[in-house]
Amino acid sequence: MTVHIDASKGDIAKTVLMPGDPLRAKFIAQKYLDNPTCFNKVRGMLGYSGTYKGRKVSVMGSGMGMASIGIYSYELFTVFDCDNIIRIGSCGSFQENVNIRDIILALGTCTNSSYASQYNLPGNFAPIANFELLSKAHSIASNKKLDVKVGNVLSSDIFYDDQEDSWKSWAKMGVLAVEMEAAALYMNAARLGKNALAILTVSDSLVTLEATTSEEREKTLTDMIEIALEVS
Ligand code: ADE
Repeated sequence: MTVHIDASKGDIAKTVLMPGDPLRAKFIAQKYLDNPTCFNKVRGMLGYSGTYKGRKVSVMGSGMGMASIGIYSYELFTVFDCDNIIRIGSCGSFQENVNIRDIILALGTCTNSSYASQYNLPGNFAPIANFELLSKAHSIASNKKLDVKVGNVLSSDIFYDDQEDSWKSWAKMGVLAVEMEAAALYMNAARLGKNALAILTVSDSLVTLEATTSEEREKTLTDMIEIALEVS
């Protein structure tokens, strides 16, 4: 067990799906996994393991923000020997051609966080997805006839930004959308020689100010979850 995860090594699969919301982890485990068992309840950050099409897979909440996913993914990679973490979450669109309900595979992440400063690099680090996980997710989505977008996202430390228009500078650089976790996950994976991918559904648009209804969110979440489970 670790400070934040009350499990034994063998309790957790090599591949872990991480939604931000621990109750979503519970929902996914109960709906999609065979014989799900709960391996963590510390701080309510529920984690479950079970099988999907005969393969062992785990699903655990990450919490919100880079500090939170940084902690959980670090412990999963280092203490529980997990090899692959797939974040499944939501994001806000920065681009006119990225619509609510679209699915994004986060090829790269920009960030306004200082998470990378711990590495003492003589420059800036570019946190990227694992290519095998990303290309597998892309072909699964293509086979399902889902039109996914692949590109850069912003992992932001700030949800309520005092500078209301700051996102437009990222948009000019072609960044597709904003979320709050992927960069830390990608950095932990890079530093530890592990694999990570973020699959995101667009829940709102900073361009049009639209937001998905809960019914629409349900449907797009299903597509995203199924892609992640097929990758696992
Ligand atoms: N996740 C979903 N929508 C978001 C937004 N607008 N900003 C940050 N994270 C998000």
